[in-house]
Amino acid sequence: MHSLAVLLPILSLSLPLLVNAVATCNVTTACPTSAPCCSEFGFCGSTQPFCLGGCNPLHSNKLDSCSPNPICKSAVHTFADNSHVLSNASLFDGNASAYDFIVESGNIMNTGGDLAMLLTKENGGTRISSTRYLHYGTVTARIKTGRWAGVVTAFITMSNVKDEIDWEFPGNSTTEGQSNYFWQGLVTQPNHGDITKDLTDTFQNYHDYTIDWQPNTLTFLVDGKVVRTVKKSDLTVDGVTQYPTTPARVQLSLWPAGTASSAAGTVQWSGGLINYNDPDYVSAGHFYALIKSINITCADPTPPGADITSYVYGPNSSTNTPAVLLSNTSTNLGGAMGMHGHAGAGLQLLLVLALAAGALGQLL
Ligand SMILES: *[C@@H]1O[C@H](CO)[C@@H](O)[C@H](O)[C@H]1NC(C)=O
Ligand SMILES: *[C@@H]1O[C@H](CO)[C@@H](O)[C@H](O)[C@H]1NC(C)=O
Ligand SMILES: *[C@@H]1O[C@H](CO)[C@@H](O)[C@H](O)[C@H]1NC(C)=O
Ligand SMILES: *[C@@H]1O[C@H](CO)[C@@H](O)[C@H](O)[C@H]1NC(C)=O
Ligand SMILES: *[C@@H]1O[C@H](CO)[C@@H](O)[C@H](O)[C@H]1NC(C)=O
Ligand SMILES: *[C@@H]1O[C@H](CO)[C@@H](O)[C@H](O)[C@H]1NC(C)=O
Ligand SMILES: *[C@@H]1O[C@H](CO)[C@@H](O)[C@H](O)[C@H]1NC(C)=O
Repeated sequence: MHSLAVLLPILSLSLPLLVNAVATCNVTTACPTSAPCCSEFGFCGSTQPFCLGGCNPLHSNKLDSCSPNPICKSAVHTFADNSHVLSNASLFDGNASAYDFIVESGNIMNTGGDLAMLLTKENGGTRISSTRYLHYGTVTARIKTGRWAGVVTAFITMSNVKDEIDWEFPGNSTTEGQSNYFWQGLVTQPNHGDITKDLTDTFQNYHDYTIDWQPNTLTFLVDGKVVRTVKKSDLTVDGVTQYPTTPARVQLSLWPAGTASSAAGTVQWSGGLINYNDPDYVSAGHFYALIKSINITCADPTPPGADITSYVYGPNSSTNTPAVLLSNTSTNLGGAMGMHGHAGAGLQLLLVLALAAGALGQLL
């Protein structure tokens, strides 16, 4: 029931990300030209961790300071081994053909058919992100969740401007899943959280959890059965439609909500403080959640042509709705876009996905 946008900074303590940071960025202060990219954690820089996945265009120096976001590609990802998962995210160069997922923080294992995300007392939890983005589509994760108080298993989509769609599983209950969604990181009161009950043990059994994100409806399913439908047309507040509309990565995580540094409400929501004397932890040396497969089916409103490589942001298409454009610019650092993550030179915006055709006119 909590926005990971708010809670994930817990996982960001991995220091390499911060070493080069010269400034912080937020809704009132964008990054300077010397360090143009605003990382997902609100720090400015000009290199890989700042300009790639999660880079927020709205708080960066320019709308095109962030590296372009690799285009969606439909695929069923399975984990006979972890060869398509890059375990050291700082080695990622933006080439989404080389890896399907990167480990943003924490540690993974392979159990012979499952990717295991580990949580230890020391590692602050594990989060993996898809290297590609999707701009609408259907994502199904076949997983076994954790089962320990304070330990949360999550399967979400997260955009660079913090449009977010969640399935979350607080570990003290293995019979329910919680769905939620956020528009540009806005935490509403009450929030949009909903609980799906009466699942068979989510630790013992695989279930298929689906986020079916289409331009006008958002549907949550368990094992192919619809459990919740949200309509975009119902979400207009003061003339602004608060519905996720921007390209997002698929992220799965096992994270420690039940720690002394978490907000009291977060600890309570997750079922209490984590017990590292739990027999499961003592015997294995970690807590874990298992991923059997991740099925991604793209549903781009305008099907991208063969030469399209990425999504980029353009000027707002309507009030508070950034335009999403298709581009043929390389997503690789060191590729066509140069070493510093500027997408500016040579950027060709080919198609306007957003409603306002006018946005294209302004850009060209
Ligand atoms: C935004 O960042 C600026 C510059 O670092 C800082 O002075 C300001 O307090 C921040 N504002 C918010 C709302 O966090
Ligand atoms: C990840 O790669 C970076 C850059 O090469 C290196 O400095 C770091 O030690 C690596 N981290 C791990 C855990 O291997
Ligand atoms: C990206 O990775 C693929 C697969 O490993 C490789 O064939 C290709 O050459 C790489 N592209 C660049 C520009 O490095
Ligand atoms: C999990 O923890 C929450 C918050 O403390 C509590 O309301 C709920 O009853 C607990 N569920 C189970 C199955 O223990
Ligand atoms: C993947 O998801 C799509 C869309 O929901 C579905 O049509 C397809 O059958 C799924 N593939 C597998 C192997 O489950
Ligand atoms: C464009 O939309 C963003 C995201 O909601 C908002 O922060 C920004 O103020 C808008 N810009 C303009 C010029 O309306
Ligand atoms: C992108 O498309 C334009 C127009 O067709 C072309 O001139 C340019 O070379 C392409 N750039 C890349 C990196 O493919």
